Amino acid sequence: MTEPHAHRPGTAAVVLAAGRGTRFRSATSKVLHRVAGRSLLGHVLGALEPLGLERVLVVVAPGADDVAAEVAAWDARTAMPVSTVVQPEPRGTGDALDVALRALPDDVTRVLVTPGDTPLLRPETLAGLLAVDPAEPLAMMTVELDDPTGYGRVLHDADGAVIGVVEERDADADQRRLREVNAGMYALDRRIVAPLVAALGADNAQGERYLTDVVGALAASGAGHGVPVRAPAVEVAGVNDRVQLADAGAVLRRRHLEGLMRAGVSVVDPAHTYVDVDVTVGAESVLLPGTILEGTTRVGSRTTVGPATHLTDCVVGDDVQVHSTRAVGAELGDGVEVGPFAHLRAGTRLGPAARVGAFVQTKNAEVGAGAKVPHLAYVGDADVGAGANVACGVVTVNYDGRAKHRTSIGEGAFVGCGTMLVAPVTVGDGAFVGAGSTITDDVPAEALAIARARQVTKEGRAAGRLG
Ligand code: UD1
Ligand code: MG
Repeated sequence: MTEPHAHRPGTAAVVLAAGRGTRFRSATSKVLHRVAGRSLLGHVLGALEPLGLERVLVVVAPGADDVAAEVAAWDARTAMPVSTVVQPEPRGTGDALDVALRALPDDVTRVLVTPGDTPLLRPETLAGLLAVDPAEPLAMMTVELDDPTGYGRVLHDADGAVIGVVEERDADADQRRLREVNAGMYALDRRIVAPLVAALGADNAQGERYLTDVVGALAASGAGHGVPVRAPAVEVAGVNDRVQLADAGAVLRRRHLEGLMRAGVSVVDPAHTYVDVDVTVGAESVLLPGTILEGTTRVGSRTTVGPATHLTDCVVGDDVQVHSTRAVGAELGDGVEVGPFAHLRAGTRLGPAARVGAFVQTKNAEVGAGAKVPHLAYVGDADVGAGANVACGVVTVNYDGRAKHRTSIGEGAFVGCGTMLVAPVTVGDGAFVGAGSTITDDVPAEALAIARARQVTKEGRAAGRLG
């Protein structure tokens, strides 16, 4: 395996992403379709990131503002500078590379080229292309396929050197039988190859400027031959429709789960566990079936998640139990217990050893260490102090129809069952609120508040009901 983590001054990557992608039948640009937590383009940029490249240039179609925004997000997220260049018209892969080569700064001498729709590419595989002697003007990734239909076939001379690539539509019957195909990834010496790219014509079945014609042009020029680098077929597969998108997702998830399992995470049923590639899980944690971990979610060690739990952009500590729960943008401290059937919404922060039980919804809520909200409650726009007990059926009445207001429950306070806390309102430290109260006024620390009508009992008035 080639070391991907070298620093490579003077080497840039060009990502070709200006094609139309019509088979997705989508208003969204093809390379922005998401799988396993990243866009297709994001997976490619993620594979380029460890390569120590000087910069990455993504070739986009005119008006592809959504792709430009994704590129800007990656530029901000990584140390690797990533930017876009517009290919004015989709005149073929050679034209796209021509546009990019003209836009790269002069100090870039070596260029790695990849398509933008190959999410399964690994850094090690790309590094294999860069490991070819830089004195070779052109290294190209090839792959042997049982069914090479649709791909460009690689042509060799008697000594095994690559002397050309012929596209399926331009190939004769003998050439179509060749099973070694061009994967569409290259490492090239800019000084030798750029003039050949600039000279590319469009005299072929599709009337496009084929990047692949550079291979033949190089051999004809006498300056060298293409050096083939074999890649695993799975890695170079492009995603052209939603069927291939789902297939790629299965491979990406399986790979990520295998990495987690080897690092000490138990995954009871990998086929029914959906973990995005940017999610981390600590050692000795257990992921039960039906667990979906998305986005930037981070899970600590010795934590059990699932079954049937869906966490998006959450931070979960060590020794936590989360059962049958939906949570978005929530932070769960060490030793927390949540669920079954809890809904933690954005801005929920549960302190160490807090407990949130069945049919509880929280939002924009800080729940202190060891506090309990065990059943059937709504805690929204609220602070619950450490050790407080918010009993069954308590509601923070946070919305008056116009604005949201905050409820504050003090440390060690006890709020009895079925209490409505009409915000803005404060229950002080150590206070006790009787069950069934509707609290509209602040309750001082250590006070007892009861706010409900007195019971009326009329002897005998129900007599005869059962007779
Ligand atoms: C290309 C190769 C073929 C190879 C195959 C591997 C050529 C001529 N053929 O064919 O030998 O087997 O990839 O998948 O290169 N793009 C642009 N601008 C354009 C056209 C394409 O940016 O004007 C981008 C696309 O977005 C895509 C990439 O270039 O990411 C490849 O284009 P595509 O049309 O998929 O090429 P193939 O026909 O698959
Ligand atoms: Mg293609």
